[in-house]
This record gives sequence, structure tokens and C-alpha cells, in this order.
Amino acid sequence: MSIQIGIIGGSGLYDMAELTDRHELTIDTPFGPPSGPYVTGTLGGTRVAFLARHGIGHRITPSELNFRANIYGFKTLGVERLLSASAVGSLREDLAPLDLVIPDQFIDRTRGRVGTFFGDGIVGHIAFADPVCGDLAQVAYDAAVTAGATVHKGGTYVCMEGPAFSTRAESHLYRAWGAHIIGMTNLQEAKLAREAEICYATIALVTDYDCWHPDHDHVTVEMVINTLHQNARTAQRVIAGAVSVLATAPRTCGCGQALATAIITRPEIVP
Ligand code: ADE
Repeated sequence: MSIQIGIIGGSGLYDMAELTDRHELTIDTPFGPPSGPYVTGTLGGTRVAFLARHGIGHRITPSELNFRANIYGFKTLGVERLLSASAVGSLREDLAPLDLVIPDQFIDRTRGRVGTFFGDGIVGHIAFADPVCGDLAQVAYDAAVTAGATVHKGGTYVCMEGPAFSTRAESHLYRAWGAHIIGMTNLQEAKLAREAEICYATIALVTDYDCWHPDHDHVTVEMVINTLHQNARTAQRVIAGAVSVLATAPRTCGCGQALATAIITRPEIVP
């Protein structure tokens, strides 16, 4: 049976406790192994598939993630809409730790990651001006409001390589660019999801002020984890609320036709 809703959880969200009727599925892909088994289960009456982005025990760095395998695995299961939950640093005073942000733009500061299914004889260029599914983002935002979270709709997510956090000069630079939040994983996921014609949106959990803020300590792992512990429950409530809406909301966005005008390779004209 195909599962149409996927959830990919980042640091601090390694499982969804509310999932019932759980099964672990190991999926092999042409790109190698995904981060771990997909946990399929029922969330409020709806079948979903959950993947812990960094693997069981958080063993995979952002640079080591096999983004293609992770997205391919969701596609194999039949996933059409993928909700991501991710820890981020804040680049703005008004985006405080414990707030949620639903970003709508990305800036790519990664290096050497494979972020496309194209290549090896097939050339395609998807449209990526609006990298997030607006409909899915709206559902996530509404669910966050309903869950009582302080949530901000829209914002630019800088995707950095890591694993070290930014220097102070970089943090100030990203602020000068007008960016709002910073993380290490979401850009490739959004691109590959678009190529796979899967809707993608992120619930970004603000854990720190990175290192630009004169009145706050610079980010540490301890700070990230402590803050995540405080709002992991909120994140799960938001996801559950979003899933219950998606279960009955037909998909009317254009993400499912992203490839219709994207592929340029024309085997029929090869002499
Ligand atoms: N994830 C959480 N906080 C972060 C930060 N400040 N920079 C990059 N990734 C993060």
C-alpha cells in the first residue's frame, strides 16, 4: 500500500512516539542506503512514513547525508508530501529560541554535495524559484498556530556545509544578506523532492542565535539539544496536526508536475 505523507526528522526528532502499528522498512536504492529504516505507522488515523535524517544514534553528519537515497526511499513508498523538521539557528532578533519558522527561500552555502537525480545521460533543470511547496507550508504554519507555537511564516534559510558552526564574520554576512535562519540540511532535500515531484516544506525549530548576537552566547551542541528537548513535543504536535489536515486535503499545487517542462534530453533526436 502506498504511503502519501512522509516526515523527516532532524536533530532531536529521531522518532514519532505517537506512531502506532509501526513497521520498520529497509529500502535499498540505486544511490545506496538511506539514513536508516523508514518507520511506517499510523498517526491520528493516517498512514505516514518517518525517517530520522541523521540515522539511529545521530551518526551521519550533514555532509555525509545520502540525500538522494533518502528522497528516493520516500518516493518508492509513494510519498507525495514530505514534512521536514529541523533545528536552525536564528539570524534575526525577532526569531527567538523555541520559535518555529516555516521558511520559503534558501541560500546555498554547501560545497560538493550531490543535490540532483539528473546526470549520467539525462539532463533536466527544474524550476526552483519557489523552493518550498506553498500549500504544504501553509498547512504546517496553520498547524503550528493551532498547536499554540510562536511561528513565523516565510523566511530565508541559509544552508551551510558544517559540521562546524559559522564564524562570527559569516553570521554577520548572512544577516547582511537578509537571511533569517541557518541550518545544514534542508536545501538538497528541497531540490531532490522537487525533482521527485514531491511537495516539501520545513518546520524549522529555532534553537539559538548562532554567534552574531551580542547578548547571547555563541551556539553550542548543548544549547541546540537543550532547546530541542523543550520543544520536541511542540514539533510533534505540529506534525500530527498537519498530517490530519493533509489526510483530507487534495493535492492541488504544481509540485506533482515539476518535471513536465524540466527535462531537456531528447533521445528521439540522437542520430
Ligand atoms: N542548527 C541549529 N543551530 C544552528 C546554527 N546556528 N547553525 C547551523 N545549524 C544549526
